[in-house]
Amino acid sequence: MSLNTHKFNPITALSVLLMTLVTHPVYAEVDNEKFELGKQKAKVCMTCHGEDGISTQDPYPNLRGQKVGYLISSLKDYQTRERTSGLAILMQQQADTLSDQDIRDISYFYSQLGLEAQMVKDSQLGHESQ
Ligand code: HEC
Repeated sequence: MSLNTHKFNPITALSVLLMTLVTHPVYAEVDNEKFELGKQKAKVCMTCHGEDGISTQDPYPNLRGQKVGYLISSLKDYQTRERTSGLAILMQQQADTLSDQDIRDISYFYSQLGLEAQMVKDSQLGHESQ
């Protein structure tokens, strides 16, 4: 009696290889270039909003993982003085130094900050469960 009925099957081996190659880059990648650019431009913001987008001071809000559209519209509202309450004057000065492109890049950076960590966690979980 022999259990050795499985022969090496090149087709199976090939399809396993193909599956590995194909499934890996499938999840949406962070646009690293844009992320890094935004990070550079956001250096000045980190004094108040924290290195990782989590502020260490109570009056300064967290920006990590915030919706990109909300970040953009908030920054524009500071520029146009639509937002004036509380400590808004601090942000008006900050926003005044930013171009539209800066606003988009920085907002992309902060919006991806939390998600990036989440994606790493998800992919690690996926590997462990194999
Ligand atoms: C001097 C400290 C300081 C710096 C530097 C600073 N901020 Fe702020 N930021 C604040 C404060 C204080 C608020 C809350 C203002 C208010 O009451 O509207 C705020 C609010 C914001 C908000 C709105 C958040 C929300 O939840 O509504 C955004 C977006 C923001 N900052 C982005 C930035 C960006 C981008 C930079 C860098 C270009 C920056 N900030 C630099 C102090 C700062």
